[in-house]
Amino acid sequence: MTEKNRLLNLRLGILGGGQLGKMLCQAASNWDIETVVLDPLEDCPASGISSKNIKGNFRDYDDVAGMAGKADIVTIEIEHVSTEGLKYLREQGIETRPSAEILEKIKDKGLQKNFYKDNGLPTSEFIICKSRDEIIDLVGKGDLKLPFVQKLCREGYDGRGVYIVREEGQLDNLLDGESVVEDLVDIKKELSVIVAQNGNNEVRCFPPVEMVFNYDANLVDYLISPADIDPELSGKAEELAENIIKKFGLYGILAVEMFLDKNGNLLINEVAPRPHNSGHQTIESCDTSQYEQHLRALFDLPLGNPEIKSPSVMLNLLGEPGHEGEAVYQGLEECMKIDGVNIHIYGKKITKPFRKMGHITIVDSNIDNALEKADMIKKILKVVT
Ligand SMILES: Nc1ncnc2c1ncn2[C@@H]1O[C@H](COP(=O)(O)OP(=O)(O)O)[C@@H](O)[C@H]1O
Ligand SMILES: [Mg+2]
Repeated sequence: MTEKNRLLNLRLGILGGGQLGKMLCQAASNWDIETVVLDPLEDCPASGISSKNIKGNFRDYDDVAGMAGKADIVTIEIEHVSTEGLKYLREQGIETRPSAEILEKIKDKGLQKNFYKDNGLPTSEFIICKSRDEIIDLVGKGDLKLPFVQKLCREGYDGRGVYIVREEGQLDNLLDGESVVEDLVDIKKELSVIVAQNGNNEVRCFPPVEMVFNYDANLVDYLISPADIDPELSGKAEELAENIIKKFGLYGILAVEMFLDKNGNLLINEVAPRPHNSGHQTIESCDTSQYEQHLRALFDLPLGNPEIKSPSVMLNLLGEPGHEGEAVYQGLEECMKIDGVNIHIYGKKITKPFRKMGHITIVDSNIDNALEKADMIKKILKVVT
């Protein structure tokens, strides 16, 4: 039997088969690109749609190295992968995007902050502390003033590993481990800009979006696209994102989380070298989705038009607090009756409080209408057991 003749004849390896991997596979399937997903779970969200699933741990050197011979280009949907494994792949002639070196700089929040500082990129003031005792000691000596934000250098995710310290009593609950200790920013808005660069050094940017946080869950509650900021600031945010991707020399997409402070300054919070939660709405509301843009950048194809076709609101569908077990979706049909509502269910069998189970993108030419619909959906749609 002859091999199927595919569009690119390149196999895309994806480390991680969560929802971001799934949506990347969906975009790849539009172009008949072969996708090979590595994930510890056989029934991971991407498993139903990828061309091939390999059961294995993306944190594990041997499992990542084992992608040699199975994929021609390897990318990630989660940062916590074995970078030594990525280096091995490169030695075998398999390009990884992002590269191991860029990923190492980003995975460690201390190295990431130093990168901004060394490159003159705006970010909040910070120091790096080896342990919680060092932080307590600095506060005791008067060398570190409250309030501040403590972030573990490694393994943080979705708000885990971030601790905002406003008063002395909280010092007992400092996280243990090497961490970045940074100024608490007086935030006006949290923005995100997704930018892409291909190997021909073509760079294109999605318009900034605004992330509204659920501070109980420490997760994005909903997202407004485009962000409600003036065009000049929007341009500045895009310029900053383009500057960062060029400085990193990164090929693929990069999500840049920024703070707009109350004085109107833009500060880089953190970046993610992969598709991002703040870009889900691009699927229905932009000419090119973030997933397709990532593919274009990975394969050195011309980058797509990131312009917004229609304003939108994106709502994360989180597991209902108090429910843990097999997931049941309440109110789906009710939501489907509302115009402009696009439902994405990731296919995770088990729900947990605040687990990301899906998302909804509401497309509406009037952003206030979209927000109203979002409020309605929040009341109707629940993931319970
Ligand atoms: N320096 C800061 N000042 C104020 N709030 C912050 C600061 N750093 C983080 N936060 C808040 O905590 C959230 C999570 O922090 P972040 O560094 O983005 O970690 P994560 O990796 O969990 O996304 C941010 O989106 C923001 O709401
Ligand atoms: Mg973040």
